[in-house]
Amino acid sequence: MFADEVNFDRDWLDDARRYLTNIVGKYGPHIQLLLKKASGIMDKIKLICPLHGPVWRKDLMYFIKKYDTWSRYIPEEKGVMIVYASMYGNTESAAQALSARLCEKGQTNVAMYDVSTTHVSQLISETFRYSHLVLASVTYNLGIHPAMNDFLMDMKALNVQNRTVAIIENGSWACKSGDLIEEFIRKELKNMTVLGERLSMASTLKEEKEPELDRLADAILESMK
Ligand SMILES: Cc1cc2nc3c(=O)[nH]c(=O)nc-3n(C[C@H](O)[C@H](O)[C@H](O)COP(=O)(O)O)c2cc1C
Repeated sequence: MFADEVNFDRDWLDDARRYLTNIVGKYGPHIQLLLKKASGIMDKIKLICPLHGPVWRKDLMYFIKKYDTWSRYIPEEKGVMIVYASMYGNTESAAQALSARLCEKGQTNVAMYDVSTTHVSQLISETFRYSHLVLASVTYNLGIHPAMNDFLMDMKALNVQNRTVAIIENGSWACKSGDLIEEFIRKELKNMTVLGERLSMASTLKEEKEPELDRLADAILESMK
């Protein structure tokens, strides 16, 4: 049996990803160096003992391959992770509408997360998994919603890179969140592609925004080819 075919309990792998991406994710190049050094003795490795994670005793190549992927910041899957920050539910509805549109158009690997109720460590480990990220945020006192801001700061701290990002912004009187998120990504994160087709909404997603929503979904799908 090839290591890739091993049917691991998904929780184990999630634990491993969470440990690596949240604690040593920042040090991808160091992990690469270590893997290079160990390349001659891979077959002699008996145990992998992460400082805070589970100890791996079998199918070690499966995990070593995962460590290699994570430490090179290569997405594990082609898919879209939608993270939204919403106070009254309108931005959440727009995120759901986008998710439905993507699924209708054939991309069913879509995951949605509420940034206010999901621990940031889970968001980070999921970000290491998916190739595409949609950030949907309300404007909050002329800034980014605080929980979305925390997520962005953690992405920077953990060196998240090589992802394509789309933005949904919402503001009732002075919409700023989209520009601020885009500026942060461009200035603070590496090798990120921000799609130009931003969906901008004032309070609620109105019917006349349908074509914009559709264009955003198409742009995401196009960038996944
Ligand atoms: C504390 C607070 C601060 C806000 N600050 C702004 C702001 O600076 N500019 C703006 O256009 N809207 C602001 N809004 C309105 C939100 O952006 C509004 O909640 C949003 O457009 C509706 O989306 P939601 O249903 O997803 O919360 C604020 C709302 C709250 C509750």
